Amino acid sequence: MCTACGHESPKWHGRCPGCGEWNSIVEEARPAKAAGGVGVRGRRANALRPVALADVQAPEVDRLKTGIGEFDRVLGGGLVPGSVVLLGGAPGIGKSTITASALGNLAAAGRRVLYVSGEESAAQVRLRAERLGPHALQVPIVAETDLDTVAATVEAERPEVCVVDSVQVLNAAGLTGAPGSVGQVREVAGRLARVAKDGGPAVILVGHVTKEGSLAGPRVLEHLVDCVLSFEGERERTYRTLRALKNRFGSTSEAGVFEMREQGLVEVADASERFVAEATRAPGSVVLCSMEGSRPLLVEVQALVAPSELVPPRRVANGVDRNRLALVLAVLARHGGPSLGSSDVFVSVAGGVRVDEPGADLAIALALASAAKGLRLGSGARPLGAFGELGLTGELRHAAHPDRRLAEASKFGLEPVLAPGPRLTDLRSALRAAFAAQAGSERAA
Ligand SMILES: Nc1ncnc2c1ncn2[C@@H]1O[C@H](COP(=O)(O)OP(=O)(O)OP(=O)(O)O)[C@@H](O)[C@H]1O
Ligand SMILES: [Mg+2]
Repeated sequence: MCTACGHESPKWHGRCPGCGEWNSIVEEARPAKAAGGVGVRGRRANALRPVALADVQAPEVDRLKTGIGEFDRVLGGGLVPGSVVLLGGAPGIGKSTITASALGNLAAAGRRVLYVSGEESAAQVRLRAERLGPHALQVPIVAETDLDTVAATVEAERPEVCVVDSVQVLNAAGLTGAPGSVGQVREVAGRLARVAKDGGPAVILVGHVTKEGSLAGPRVLEHLVDCVLSFEGERERTYRTLRALKNRFGSTSEAGVFEMREQGLVEVADASERFVAEATRAPGSVVLCSMEGSRPLLVEVQALVAPSELVPPRRVANGVDRNRLALVLAVLARHGGPSLGSSDVFVSVAGGVRVDEPGADLAIALALASAAKGLRLGSGARPLGAFGELGLTGELRHAAHPDRRLAEASKFGLEPVLAPGPRLTDLRSALRAAFAAQAGSERAA
């Protein structure tokens, strides 16, 4: 079946004969025949009587708290019973670690849980649990890759929360595709979602991210589940961020910050304080007052500008969007900043954090200008704080929640902060203000 247009074909095609889309044909299990040998299509269905939403019975359900504050917050306040959560991330980022400690906490709180490990043997999972502490060791585990067996086990054990690690290794017996192929992954997720919806457990599906960065390959999987979480960060760094890409029961703009330690993933509640303390205060460094969902977060944006031999010169962006960087470079060149057409440009957000909001533009622009001029920004020992979106005509645009960003900045001693306002309306005035403050502090020193 074509995932784009629904065209059905008895054999696989590289290109769908129906709509011409490439690589969109996946294998689907045929729907089972209805009992009594009557075909599904031949059955006469009874009409239903619609009910006003106000009369629908909706029992109050308590969310299941995983005991990991940042994880609960990203989920929108905890796991919703019967929901399906897809947790994606690069290899080795800590998906098994976070799910194992969440199950450990739930088990310690008296919830029935189940860990289905398809990737690692029970002994390997035990080794990790030893690292995570006594709670994690109480979690019941099955090591199995056959989908039917897993579904039967879940139905027999009736856990309240079940983790499947990972969705790509489970094998649906009815399909010929290899485990991890599009059709297989769809079937596995669909089957487990049905088990969950029939009054079953909240299911956390662990999924790998493909090279292109999309979750578990097919986007189709994202439609099947209630909540898609992405675990990001660089493996060599200790900081990791968890963010919601889709959430039927909460906001998608929340993010949690974790640190990988010997005893597992530890929440970083005071992330802003750490990032400000670690800020280098060298030329090319600006502290960005960003928002991670409803929470302000201060992160250091660093830029390096170096003469280049290459045509076109290098543009390397870590933690910020490449296209956003290209836009900021163009606006800088046109509206009062340095022209960096013959320089290599590197921009990165310290700590391996990813910033995905337009409010980062001004901080990136100031870091680049500061790096290009070799001048340190900020007054005295304090780094410069900034936020704001850049428009194509060089104007500064408002970013969401300016008051919360400013409050967070003043909490950690960043004052003044360059932000869009009546006195700062465009990039030119922001650059002037940044370098004027700098010159003032040099004179005072
Ligand atoms: N003793 C330890 N101290 C600190 N960090 C550790 C320790 N042991 C493992 N780690 C970290 O845990 C990470 C592996 O975590 P985990 O197995 O949860 O990742 P994963 O996302 O499930 O990976 P995979 O995709 O391979 O299943 C390693 O990359 C390493 O950074
Ligand atoms: Mg794992």
